[in-house]
Amino acid sequence: MTTDRSTPEGDIRERIAAARKKLGKDLVVLAHYYQNIDIVRSADFVGDSLQLARIASEQREAGSIVFCAVSFMAEMARILCETRQKVFHPEPSAKCPLAEMAVIDDVERAWKLLTATGRHLMPVVYVNSRADLKAFCGKNGGFVCTSANAKKAMEYVLSRGAVPFFFPDENLGRNTAHAMGISDDEIFLWDPFEDISDTGVPDIAAKKAILWRGFCYVHVAFRPSDIEQARKTHGEINVIVHPECTPDVVGLADYAGSTSYIKSTVETAAAGTKWAIGTEVNFVNCLKADNPDKLIVPLRECECRDMSHVTLLKFLTVLENILEGKGQPEVTVDPEDSRYAKVALERMLAIT
Ligand code: 13P
Ligand code: SF4
Repeated sequence: MTTDRSTPEGDIRERIAAARKKLGKDLVVLAHYYQNIDIVRSADFVGDSLQLARIASEQREAGSIVFCAVSFMAEMARILCETRQKVFHPEPSAKCPLAEMAVIDDVERAWKLLTATGRHLMPVVYVNSRADLKAFCGKNGGFVCTSANAKKAMEYVLSRGAVPFFFPDENLGRNTAHAMGISDDEIFLWDPFEDISDTGVPDIAAKKAILWRGFCYVHVAFRPSDIEQARKTHGEINVIVHPECTPDVVGLADYAGSTSYIKSTVETAAAGTKWAIGTEVNFVNCLKADNPDKLIVPLRECECRDMSHVTLLKFLTVLENILEGKGQPEVTVDPEDSRYAKVALERMLAIT
C-alpha cells in the first residue's frame, strides 16, 4: 500500500493498527517519552532512556523491534538485543545533536593527555552518544549512564578512588557533581575545540570531576526568567526540570531529575497541585493529558525537533515494509563497537 504526506491521519492510524495486529507478538514497539503523542499511544513500551535500555534487553519473544526515538537509542537496542532480532528505526537521520558533540578522535586525544597527568580517571559516557564512545568506555574500564542514574554512576567512580571523565553533556555532569557536593572549582571542563598545544597538559591535580563542553539545545533554552514568570503567573506552582538544563535553572527549580523522575513525581502528587515542567514539550503534553486533576504547564515550549523527525507516517511505512518483506533497512552497529559498547551498557545496568 502506498503512503505519502497527503494520507489522512485517520487512515494512517487504522493501517498502523492493522499492521500491528498482523505482526502480533513478533513485533515490539518502543518509544521515548519525547515522541509525538500519537506514537506514544501506539507503542508497547514508552520510557526514558534507562527504562528503554532495560526493556530492549529483556525482549526475547519478538523477532522485530521498532524503536521510535533519536538514532542513538535505536543503536542501543541493537547492541543489547540478540543478533537474531531485527531492530528498525523509522528515521535514521533523526540524530541527537548532543550525541554528536563528542567524537572518538577528540575523546581519545583528551583521554591520552588527561591520563598522562597520572590521575586515575574512569570514563563515563552519557547514553546520548555514538556507539564508538560507548565502546571506548567498555574498553577503558568505564560505563554508560543516563540522566536517571548519573549520580549513582559518579558515586561508583569516586568510591573506586577514581575521577569521573564524563562526556558529552556538561550540564548533566555539573548538576550531578553539585548534587554530590562537588564545587565548580573542583571541576575541570575539557573543551574539544580548545587548542592546548601552547598551554600543555592541564593541571587537574585537585579536580574531582572532568566534564566535556557539550549541551542539549532543547534544555539550555530554559531560563531563570521562565521560572520567575511561572511563579508570577501561577503563584504556588512547583517547578520541575530535567538535569540537562543549565545549573542556574536547576538551582532555582523545586525539583530536578530524569524524565521518569519527572513523570512519577507529578503523577504521585496530590490532585489540584500545579506544575511547571522544564523538559521536552511533547512529553509535557502527554503528562498533561494523563493528569487532568493537576494544572500542568510547560516552563517554555521547547520541542526536540530531532525526535519529531519520527512521524506517524514513517512509523507506518516501517511496519508495512516489515509485513510485506520489502527490505526495510535494519539498524546496524559495527561489530567491534557493539561488543565493547555492550560491556559498558551492561556495566551500567549492573551498577544502577
Ligand atoms: P532521559 O534519559 O530522561 O530519557 O533523557 C534523554 C534525553 O534525550 C533528554 O534530552
Ligand atoms: Fe538530544 Fe536534547 Fe533531543 Fe534529548 S532533547 S534527544 S538531548 S537534542
